[in-house]
Amino acid sequence: MADGSSPLFDWDQVCAEFPIACRKVPLFDGRETTILYLDHAASTHAPRCVLDRYTRFMADEYANIHRGTHLLSRTATKTFDECYTTVSSFIGGDLDRGAVVFLGNTTQAIDLVAHVVDPLPGKVIVTELEHHSNDLPYRKRGPVLRARAREDGSLDMDHVRDLLRSNQVKLVAVTGASNVTGWMPDIHALARMAHEHGALIALDCAQLLAHKRIDVRDMDDPEHIDFIAAAGHKAYSPFGSSFLYGPRWLMDQAPPYLPGGGTASRVSKRSAEFVPSPDRHQGGTPNIGGVIALAEAIKFLDKIGMQRVREHEMELTRRAMAGMKAIEGVTVYGPEDPDARLGVLTFNVAGVSDLLAAAVLSEERGIACRNGRFCAHVYVDHLLAHQGGYTAERDATPGAVRASFGIYNTVEDVDRLIEGVEMLTQKGWKGRYKVFGPGSTEVVQTEAAARCNDHWMAPEQ
Ligand SMILES: Cc1ncc(COP(=O)(O)O)c(C=O)c1O
Repeated sequence: MADGSSPLFDWDQVCAEFPIACRKVPLFDGRETTILYLDHAASTHAPRCVLDRYTRFMADEYANIHRGTHLLSRTATKTFDECYTTVSSFIGGDLDRGAVVFLGNTTQAIDLVAHVVDPLPGKVIVTELEHHSNDLPYRKRGPVLRARAREDGSLDMDHVRDLLRSNQVKLVAVTGASNVTGWMPDIHALARMAHEHGALIALDCAQLLAHKRIDVRDMDDPEHIDFIAAAGHKAYSPFGSSFLYGPRWLMDQAPPYLPGGGTASRVSKRSAEFVPSPDRHQGGTPNIGGVIALAEAIKFLDKIGMQRVREHEMELTRRAMAGMKAIEGVTVYGPEDPDARLGVLTFNVAGVSDLLAAAVLSEERGIACRNGRFCAHVYVDHLLAHQGGYTAERDATPGAVRASFGIYNTVEDVDRLIEGVEMLTQKGWKGRYKVFGPGSTEVVQTEAAARCNDHWMAPEQ
């Protein structure tokens, strides 16, 4: 691995790899500016090498895998099969004792964890920090125990321990990094705790994968991680590919997740013999091009070195946290230590709704942030209750604005964000904004009234 040692490393070179970084976007007044994309926690753009690899597969190598004798199919099969090793090596996995299963998104990968542990006795612990995708798949299969967040938004480890002591627990399902605050729990301490109480641990690494080195460790290590779920679209590759890494002994004991083509070695009118993982759970044709692109993105990250990626993004996060803190009327949610976070900052500006703030940043500064509740309603409610911020009286479901950094962001980008947020605190925007109701041109009177619908706020010219 190239951690910290890429001799040709140069951030300008990295930025130049991302065509999106040069994209011009129109502002409300007709001017144009270069986009400042700060929505990496939702999805990340692909660098040129990933786009090229994807296009090459589609143009020259496109064929289905595993069932063909012809050249294209054999080549596609070989390339696809190499992706298992690329993914597993990147997270420190072991393909003899563990298996990588390719799926479509993180939610599906987590749902496969829930499926695989379902027959085991005991309960599942989830936490108050989770994205709905690391909560609802477990709830679908039975009641869950919920570990509390502390007031600052970190995980209450003592409560996790208490729940483990007083219940029979089969799995601790926890995020590797929050998609709201970027805060990272001590995953290996949690793993030790879970294993000491006979439970497994599953990490939702949707956010972590592309920003900090993951090491699942040897399965004999009491601090090893049992399951890792993550997706390509948050790791610089296209939508539609994800993976689950998990222990073979358990994955092969579970019934096939999606029985169908590729999952069985022999099928008669009355019975089917299913193959071991990964094919056992990979029913139907996988997203072959997407998986190849994901593997290419992983190689790209590895070439830079995850330590370098982390250091760069920590520098951006520290600068952004300090800049935000210096502006009166801005609340940044979550624990204060920037080094315990990924580059994800969720904030509110006093007296300005998150919807208006995000719309103004987009329309007047070309800054792409996300706003709302980030599919983590329990956590957002907790943060807003304990840390305050904007709430509008008529607004039953208040939210926040999220800026999230990626590998090609720069300190200048951070300064541009800070300037935009300062302008928001001074209510210095130039446009007038109205919200249009879902799917119609009807004008909604307050910008808060349309939340939770598919809404868009447009500036008046
Ligand atoms: C922490 C976390 N978990 C899970 C998901 C769901 O990911 P996907 O859209 O790939 O299913 C997300 C998406 O934002 C996320 O941030």
